[in-house]
Amino acid sequence: MKGKFVTVEGGERVGKSTYIGMLREYLEERGLLESYVFTREPGGGEIAERIRGIILDKSYFGKISYRTEALLYAAARCQHIDGVILPALNAGKNVICDRYIHSSFAYQGYARKLGAEYVTAINGYAVENCMPDAVIFIDLPPEKAYWREGGSEDRMENEKAEFHRAVYEGFKELQKSADNFFTVTPKDKNETFGKILNLLKDTGFFL
Ligand code: TMP
Repeated sequence: MKGKFVTVEGGERVGKSTYIGMLREYLEERGLLESYVFTREPGGGEIAERIRGIILDKSYFGKISYRTEALLYAAARCQHIDGVILPALNAGKNVICDRYIHSSFAYQGYARKLGAEYVTAINGYAVENCMPDAVIFIDLPPEKAYWREGGSEDRMENEKAEFHRAVYEGFKELQKSADNFFTVTPKDKNETFGKILNLLKDTGFFL
């Protein structure tokens, strides 16, 4: 049987990696880790990680066109799907991925204003029908996240506050329309993790 595919989404520094790390620990403590694959986008595999290096290189700030940016994310995704995600799912493993196509909708489609149709079209070639069984959206606006304007080593993070606000609004739009999209509003860390665990149980994520 095919494994379940879950993605975690949200703006910069909203705590995604903290909760994903807590999930990894939770599974490890129960001796379940080998049935799960933890991965991230852009990245997951050697080639996609190299594409990540290009996309996030701060010295390319203002130089990569928005369409190129969107296409690079889609290319990294394609390699990630073919090389990591599908082989894992087909082997019956569950996959948890830090960001996926919904980041492209929020960042490139909405904040870069390329539009949802453009993102859908180019990702159609990359994703085909490999869509998540559940998307967990960490709903924290940039003003409340640990993100701060300026000084980051990462090209995307270095964008202005207005950009990150638009990304957040993009995610809020997805809340209205995207399939299997579940929102978690973070408060206390353990309580938030508990909510994520419940959502994952409902999705059949635990084998
Ligand atoms: P990360 O720092 O959370 O690993 O994500 C890398 C950056 O890439 C982050 O700023 C979000 C951005 N991103 C997009 O703009 N589009 C995408 O499709 C993905 C996966 C990430």
